[in-house]
Amino acid sequence: MKLFHFLFLCFFTNTLFNFCSAANVTYDARSLIIDGQRKLLISASIHYPRSVPGMWPGLVQTAKEGGVDVIESYVFWNGHEPSPGKYNFEGRYDLVKFVKIVQQAGMYMMLRIGPFVAAEWNYGGIPVWLHYVPGTVFRSDNEPFKYYMKKFLTFIVDLMKKEKLFASQGGPIILAQVENEYGYYESYYGEGAKRYVNWSAAMAVSQNIGVPWIMCAQDDAPDPVINTCNSFYCDAFKPNSPNKPKIWTENWPGWFKTFGARDPHRPAEDVAFSVARFFQKGGSVQNYYMYHGGTNFGRTSGGPFITTSYDYEAPIDEYGLPRLPKWGHLKELHRAIKLSEHALLKSGPTTLSLGPLQEADVYDDGSGVCAAFLSNTDDKTDVNVVFRNVSYHLPAWSVSILPDCKNVVYNTAKVGSHASVVKMVPEELQPSVASPTRGLKGLKWDIYLEKAGIWGVADFTKNGFVDHINTTKDTTDYLWYTTSITVGENEEFLKKGSRPVLLIESKGHALHAFVNQKLQGSASGNGSHSPFTFKSPISLKAGKNEIALLSMTVGLQNAGGLYEWVGAGLTSVKIEGLNNGTLDLSMSSWTYKIGLQGEHLGIYKPGNLNGVKWVSTSEPPKNQPLTWYKVVVDPPSGDEPVGLDMVHMGKGLAWLNGEEIGRYWPIKSSKNLECVQECDYRGKFFPDKCLTGCGEPSQRWYHVPRSWFKPTGNVLVIFEEKGGDPTKITFSKRKTSGVCSLITEDYPAFDQESILKEGSENGKTRPNAHLKCPKDTRISNIKFASFGNPTGKCGSYSASDCHDPSSTFVVEKVCLGKSECSVELTEENFDKSLCPGTTKKLAIEAVCS
Ligand SMILES: *[C@@H]1O[C@H](CO)[C@@H](O)[C@H](O)[C@H]1NC(C)=O
Ligand SMILES: *[C@@H]1O[C@H](CO)[C@@H](O)[C@H](O)[C@H]1NC(C)=O
Ligand SMILES: *[C@@H]1O[C@H](CO)[C@@H](O)[C@H](O)[C@H]1NC(C)=O
Ligand SMILES: *[C@@H]1O[C@H](CO)[C@@H](O)[C@H](O)[C@H]1NC(C)=O
Ligand SMILES: *[C@@H]1O[C@H](CO)[C@@H](O)[C@H](O)[C@H]1NC(C)=O
Ligand SMILES: *[C@@H]1O[C@H](CO)[C@@H](O)[C@H](O)[C@H]1NC(C)=O
Repeated sequence: MKLFHFLFLCFFTNTLFNFCSAANVTYDARSLIIDGQRKLLISASIHYPRSVPGMWPGLVQTAKEGGVDVIESYVFWNGHEPSPGKYNFEGRYDLVKFVKIVQQAGMYMMLRIGPFVAAEWNYGGIPVWLHYVPGTVFRSDNEPFKYYMKKFLTFIVDLMKKEKLFASQGGPIILAQVENEYGYYESYYGEGAKRYVNWSAAMAVSQNIGVPWIMCAQDDAPDPVINTCNSFYCDAFKPNSPNKPKIWTENWPGWFKTFGARDPHRPAEDVAFSVARFFQKGGSVQNYYMYHGGTNFGRTSGGPFITTSYDYEAPIDEYGLPRLPKWGHLKELHRAIKLSEHALLKSGPTTLSLGPLQEADVYDDGSGVCAAFLSNTDDKTDVNVVFRNVSYHLPAWSVSILPDCKNVVYNTAKVGSHASVVKMVPEELQPSVASPTRGLKGLKWDIYLEKAGIWGVADFTKNGFVDHINTTKDTTDYLWYTTSITVGENEEFLKKGSRPVLLIESKGHALHAFVNQKLQGSASGNGSHSPFTFKSPISLKAGKNEIALLSMTVGLQNAGGLYEWVGAGLTSVKIEGLNNGTLDLSMSSWTYKIGLQGEHLGIYKPGNLNGVKWVSTSEPPKNQPLTWYKVVVDPPSGDEPVGLDMVHMGKGLAWLNGEEIGRYWPIKSSKNLECVQECDYRGKFFPDKCLTGCGEPSQRWYHVPRSWFKPTGNVLVIFEEKGGDPTKITFSKRKTSGVCSLITEDYPAFDQESILKEGSENGKTRPNAHLKCPKDTRISNIKFASFGNPTGKCGSYSASDCHDPSSTFVVEKVCLGKSECSVELTEENFDKSLCPGTTKKLAIEAVCS
């Protein structure tokens, strides 16, 4: 009632005084309609808690420059309601601030409230406490779940209304989502699943937000909720009713990473291909999930085993820099789509076959406004097709865009955007001028050792094992399982000097085994399989031996049918090789302790740093398990983004000035697995298609936002579980050291803006290689230039037999000393008669400084 009143007022004032700019967002089969105007929209996922408020305006601006119209984010319930009824909207969780930044940038917002989100986020975004409300079953027709879900969703909706953030109130939010990818798992929830879907939709619609609701991957989403597509390709997607537009909520331009796994890559050409195909086939809203992936700070990552980095190989990298050439290639694509928008929205397409796997979709209403998409879905063969009596070259697996049905302004397989060489440049930790003990050479380290096993008073003792998650309730990653055994003097292994074998089975996720305070070994599951086995010889002595097993979670399950019931922790412990054979300790008396002492005392927080007695040293111990390290440092020089290099450490947690950097674990992927040198963009993409990094750490650097640093006196705290070398820790700066351009003679070269004007021939320009240095730097050196048939990629080009020897001279003349330059592929500049019959190209690598 209150809302209706407000809307009425708004509408009224709008018409009379043009004061309130409330927008009317509706839809039909073709598109969203905002204030009577149809729109084709490019949307970009940027999750606010995966960066910091200081980065938000820059990220949103970089998205806008990349041709994005809409910013999408989930809402992260477990970040906002850490305990029932206690809300948090501070810092990274300042949702209102984030939406207002989007609004100030003049962009729209898509708010995917869920509140289940999956998102490789801890527990899929639902607070762990809700699992312990008696009788609760997540995401089903279950009273406690529906009660809390409605309460939270309503809370968020009311907050947005209060701040007037819905488009119906003059705000940026044009779409909202309830639930998330439930369609994949409905079968787990029996008959109640459909009732839950209907209830979710009806509950959402009853919120009267004045903009449409969507449900992604939900074929049975009831009207008026729009069902949307999540996939690597959505051109063939059809909504479940003829009056709903075709919306793609998740186009994955890369993929997430797990600890111990290789690096996935999705080529820019294929991302562009998928987007062009979507708009070719009548798509209306396309969202990149992720456009900026960011960082799973603290213990927010899910999985299990999702890395702290959520870079996602997205168009903006984890550190906030445009990822080239992907960002630029998609920017060009967005321009080509926008040039065609008018024609695309004016009429339906006519599909013409141009060959067995080649087709044209022509948007021509006969009034002279015409746009066409020519596609070649053959994943091997380039072809020439004839369209309207003109011949066009279509590389394999590509789409050409003709905003006037005549001139190709863009082809998804021809990457004209410049690339860059980005490096992590190490800088040693600098002792802080504000450090009280400055004067010592180098750094002063404070050390605190955790005990292996029970510290303080034990939490409880029990015969057999408890579930790890049921016990910690995710207040910490750590749970100690401790027991003791007595070894008789007459044990054969003592005489032989051999060692018995400790055999442990665990539901997940990782474990360090200590005997008599000494680390015996570690084991863990992996991203595709959490249960694991530990098997290692151990050192036992005659008499009593303390066994202390540190069980760890590495991000809670974030999706799947009934996923909240997946447990972790030990299920079996045995010792083999005793006189009596095998000793099974599984039903023995076990004593438990939740978490670490340092965590409990919060010794990483600015106010609690002196909660324990630290020992100072200039030579911190190496390879020592269960060690807290504290060091006071100055920020690294310059203003580049910073990553903490932890490649010489084992596994643990890190903080700067009390801010949680997160879990570090430079565990390596197997070097015996398959990795690619070059990724062939052609053909259907899947996450395992183009993996690199065999035998390398899945994550070496851990993002430390610049805004967390003070000018001096920064406290870096590290908890190391199994042993590492802290003297080798560095802050590494993310630097763009060079920029590259690679352009072919036949690259579609038009001044895109003038192409639709009278006499589009005027818009024709010559292909040119464009280079642009990062802010405040200039081209100081041309490291490589070759017109001809150079090979390789940015950072490793090499010239071939077909090479114009004056290439470097020509490029130097145009570019040296400039922050930005363009080199045209003209006869004046280059010897075009070289190696006749081949399409030549120009490759340049320049150094910016
Ligand atoms: C909103 O737009 C729809 C169609 O686009 C129209 O039917 C409806 O009357 C409009 N509502 C308001 C309040 O302007
Ligand atoms: C859900 O809603 C749809 C459409 O309104 C209806 O056809 C269907 O019977 C409902 N299902 C259940 C289980 O309530
Ligand atoms: C293509 O060429 C044919 C024959 O030369 C001509 O009749 C036809 O009108 C042309 N079509 C277009 C679209 O220009
Ligand atoms: C994960 O662990 C399972 C079970 O040990 C194993 O079969 C699988 O190969 C592992 N996967 C990877 C990527 O290491
Ligand atoms: C956790 O505890 C509950 C009872 O409180 C039990 O129903 C559930 O099965 C336990 N989970 C696991 C994984 O053991
Ligand atoms: C080994 O077996 C003997 C005889 O069954 C028993 O008395 C003894 O307690 C066992 N020792 C251990 C360590 O289980």
